[in-house]
Amino acid sequence: MNEAYLGEDYIVIKALENGVTIIGLTRGSDTKFHHTEKLDRGEIMVVQFTEHTSAMKIRGNAEITHRYGSTMSESVKR
Ligand code: TRP
Repeated sequence: MNEAYLGEDYIVIKALENGVTIIGLTRGSDTKFHHTEKLDRGEIMVVQFTEHTSAMKIRGNAEITHRYGSTMSESVKR
């Protein structure tokens, strides 16, 4: 990696309710949570996959925009 490296595409996560959680999962042979971020309604976060993060888990109602389009996550009322 060098200073010209721009990395992976960005993903935009917009919270549609309070308390949406974004959890970063480690890259490599074991898969662990290494970072948790909470968003409140209307907040957005712009993120990339990195050498440390190969997957993300999103809990709650959110709109996720990425190179394949847009996906909604939902929270199920229990
Ligand atoms: N640590 C795993 C990896 O780097 C994380 C992961 C990526 C994963 N994609 C996955 C875990 C799909 C389960 C299913 O590969």
